[in-house]
Amino acid sequence: MLKIAVCVSGGGTNLQALLDAVDSGVITDTKISVVISNNKNAYALERAAKAGIESLCISPKDFHNREEFNREFLRKLNTYQVDLVVLAGFLVVIPPEMISQYKNRIINIHPSLIPSFCGKGYYGLKVHEGVLNRGVKITGATVHFVDEGTDTGPIILQKEVLVKENDTPEILQRRVMEEAEWNLLPKAVELIAHNRIQVKDGKVVITEG
Ligand code: GRF
Repeated sequence: MLKIAVCVSGGGTNLQALLDAVDSGVITDTKISVVISNNKNAYALERAAKAGIESLCISPKDFHNREEFNREFLRKLNTYQVDLVVLAGFLVVIPPEMISQYKNRIINIHPSLIPSFCGKGYYGLKVHEGVLNRGVKITGATVHFVDEGTDTGPIILQKEVLVKENDTPEILQRRVMEEAEWNLLPKAVELIAHNRIQVKDGKVVITEG
C-alpha cells in the first residue's frame, strides 16, 4: 500500500482528481494519509474533510523565519511516514532537507510541457499567459519528480493540449486541467504504487505492467 501526502494551496481540483481516482479504482493499493495546506482558506481542505482525509495547515507566515518553518514542515510530514509526497498546486518552496530526504519520492504537476514555460515565475495563470503571449499552438501538462531546481527533475508523464484561437489564460488553464492534469496525476501515482517507475541517469524509465 502506497501511503501518500498531498500538498495543496488552493482549489484542489488535482487533489479531487486523486480522491476520485482512488474511489473509482483508477488508483489502487494507495492511501491518501494526509492533505497538507499552507493556506487555511484553501478549498482543497474542504475537499479533504468531505472525503474523510486528515489534513493539516502549516504556513511560513506563522514562523519567524524560513528555517523554522522548514524544520517544522518536515517534522510534521515525517510523522505520517508516507512513501510519496504529491505537490498538487502547492505554492511553497520545498525545503532542501526534504528534497534530499525524499529523493525521487516527491512529484509535482506543472501545467505546461516542460522545459517550456517552467521555472521561476511560471506558476498558476502566468504559465498560460506565457503560452498565449508566445503564440505556441500546443501546450500541456507534465508530472515530474522534484529535485533541487525549479521544475528541473526527471519527467514522469506528459500530455499535450491544443491552444485555440480565442483562448484566454483562464480558458486555457481549464482545458489543460481537464484534458491533461486530472488524468496525468492519478496515472503517475498508480504507476508509482505498482513500482513501475525507476529513475536511471536522471531520466524516468517506465516498466511494462
Ligand atoms: C494546477 O494548474 C497545477 O498544475 C498547478 O497549480 C494548479 C492547481 O490547481 N501547479 P488545483 O488547486 O489542483 O485546482
